Formats: sequence, C-alpha cells, structure tokens
Amino acid sequence: MDVSEIIIPREFIEKWYEEKYSKYQGKESYYGEVDPEIKDLIKRLLKNGKTSVLDLGCGDGRYLIEFAKAGFNAVGIDLSRAAKSRIEKRIESEGIRNLVDVINADIVDYHFENRSYDCVLCSEVLQQLPRNCVEEVIRKMKRATKNGGYNFIRLPSDIKRILPDGTFFWYEGEAKYSRDEAVNLLRKLYDDWKIEYVHETFFDEKWSIPEVLKPILGGYDIYTRREVAIKCLALRISD
Ligand SMILES: C[S@@+](CC[C@H](N)C(=O)[O-])C[C@H]1O[C@@H](n2cnc3c(N)ncnc32)[C@H](O)[C@@H]1O
Repeated sequence: MDVSEIIIPREFIEKWYEEKYSKYQGKESYYGEVDPEIKDLIKRLLKNGKTSVLDLGCGDGRYLIEFAKAGFNAVGIDLSRAAKSRIEKRIESEGIRNLVDVINADIVDYHFENRSYDCVLCSEVLQQLPRNCVEEVIRKMKRATKNGGYNFIRLPSDIKRILPDGTFFWYEGEAKYSRDEAVNLLRKLYDDWKIEYVHETFFDEKWSIPEVLKPILGGYDIYTRREVAIKCLALRISD
C-alpha cells in the first residue's frame, strides 16, 4: 500500500503546546479528569506515609494539583512556559501554592536528585522523545525514587495520526513504539522492581489541528488519532 506521510520538525511540538495552553481558558486541566489509577495511587502512598511526588512533563498540572490537594509536596517539570503559568493560576485559586514547585526545563537534560521522591510520574510525554532518550529518562526516574516508592508511566504506542485525505503525520525523531515494543520496554526496564500492572487501552478520537500546524498539514481543522495507551505502575522494592 502506498501511504503518504508528513514529518513535522521537532520544534513544532513545543509550539503546539504553547498554543494549546495559552488559548485554553478552562478552570480544570486541559487534559480533563484524573485517572482512577492515579486516585488509587495517591491513597496507597498516603496510607504508607509517603508524601513527595515528581511529575515529568506535568503539562498544566492535571496530576500535580491532585497530589498537592492531597497534601503532597509536588514538583513538576515541563518545557512549556504557558503550562507553568496555567498551573500558577490554578494553585493560587486552590490555596496550595506552598506545596507546588514548577520548573521550566527539558526532562532529558535535567538532573534529578537521587532517591528524593516517593513517586515519579511521566504521563504522555515519552512517546515524543527519541528512543535512546526514553530509556535514559526512565533510568533517571528510577534513580530519583526512594525505596518503597513508585513510578507511574503512561506511554502511548501504535500512534497513528491521520488527516482527512488519509495522509499520516509524525514528529521528527519521535519514538514510534508498537504496542509490543512499549510493553516489552517497560517490563525490561522495571525487571528489578515489582511491576504492579501494565494495562492498555485503545483510543480512536478526533482532535483539532492547531493553527501553528495548519500550514504544514494542508489547512485541515481535524485529524484522527489512534493509539494504544500503556499504563505501568512499578514499585521500588530494594536497593
Ligand atoms: C500530552 S502533555 C501531558 C501532560 C501531563 N503529563 C498529563 O498527562 O496531563 C505532554 C507534556 O509534556 C511536555 N514535554 C514534552 N517534551 C518535554 C521535555 N523534553 N521536557 C519537558 N517537558 C516536555 C509538553 O510541554 C506537554 O506539556
């Protein structure tokens, strides 16, 4: 089959997020509800007296704010300045300013202190990185976690972005894991921890095309995005 495709230069990933977060006026997170898995994780951590969290690629604070509202010291890292200013507004209105710290940085270069957090999250970020960076970031997440702490990863796999004329589009250098590759990677990298679960969910949704990408993608407003989202929770059981 002859399938045409468009490769978008990497700098547009950042431009797209800046556009999303600066336009969005909702009071809640742009990404909607907090997953039930995260609510359970918060309960589980609190029950064991654990209260610090690091969220890599925290976006506009969907998880970060849920953790801080439960009393956690919450540190978020994200490239986007617009995401940071949305979080700052949201924590002001929730009265949790003293519990949240947001850093504008690249998670690939940023140095996290060893064994400093009870929980490290990375949701829907790794799929955009080159494969060698994905593995490096997961190794850093593991090192930054205290004994008895958790890592939660949500890693979209088998991603297909399809324009109305059937053209596929990708970002330059993104990991492009198949479902099996993503599951095997997580199982391999956490084989010295206790893997609590590796779940998967299939999504097939229509998404808006941001203004910044319209000239590259032929002026369309909407595209279809299919993916198998892999969620993995792992527990650090010993040194
Ligand atoms: C799809 S959003 C997910 C936001 C949040 N984790 C959630 O699940 O609600 C991806 C976020 O990752 C950030 N991001 C992408 N690459 C990054 C990198 N290399 N370093 C830091 N943040 C990054 C983007 O700016 C964006 O806010």
